[in-house]
Amino acid sequence: MDKELISILIDKTEKFSIAETLAFLANEFKNQAVFSTSFGQEDQVITDIIASQNLPITIFTLDTGRLFQETYDVFHKTLTKYKMNIKTYFPEATAVEELLNQKGPNSFYDSVENRKECCFIRKVAPLTKALKGNSVWITGLRAEQSVNRNDLALFEYDENFAILKFNPLLKWTLKDVEDYLEINNVPQNTLHKQGFVSIGCAPCTRAITAGEDIRAGRWWWESSYKECGLHQ
Ligand code: ADX
Ligand code: SF4
Repeated sequence: MDKELISILIDKTEKFSIAETLAFLANEFKNQAVFSTSFGQEDQVITDIIASQNLPITIFTLDTGRLFQETYDVFHKTLTKYKMNIKTYFPEATAVEELLNQKGPNSFYDSVENRKECCFIRKVAPLTKALKGNSVWITGLRAEQSVNRNDLALFEYDENFAILKFNPLLKWTLKDVEDYLEINNVPQNTLHKQGFVSIGCAPCTRAITAGEDIRAGRWWWESSYKECGLHQ
């Protein structure tokens, strides 16, 4: 993927709304534009846009097997409201069995290496499968979420997964996201009302308190560079 294609896409979509850009991508990359949702607030905005415009974009989720019940609840509500399919990818059963047989169910608390091993089995490997054969990966990343995400671009090439990435909400603030969800009556994870902002797996996510960083509740026992390998 060259820089040239990215600059063409930037030029072509410069004046487009998010819905128009998504429609353009779905048409340019037929059956090869996919959107990953964890049912977080940002993802719910994008799902609402895709569903309300009936865009031919496959929506998928990575069910790690360790999600909160509240996440499954919003997953279910989303299916009911939009009456559409959300493709679910689950980790390889044998890999999970092996991990648990060797290290038990909570090995992620013991070391960063163990935590990354679990994230690899439960998230990265299924993501690799989900992205295979596709050309565009749409995400709900926002620049404001963390210092690592500050220098992201609207369109970028993801070297790890060898795919073009589109981050439509890159410049949105949390308030923009919350307002959109409210105005459009979009289903939300009830944990957001309990101080959870960024929500991942249940054993690895806690609520944050006022003034804490948005991602402080993710892998809270680790001190630095907190990413799971989906986004570097
Ligand atoms: S993470 O890398 O720390 O887990 P985060 O929760 O901030 O990511 O979500 C950022 C984007 O990654 C989401 O908008 C979504 O596109 C994708 N994503 C994260 N977790 C999942 C998941 N379990 N299933 C599908 N997509 C996910
Ligand atoms: Fe495993 Fe925690 Fe990573 Fe989920 S976030 S895959 S439970 S280490």
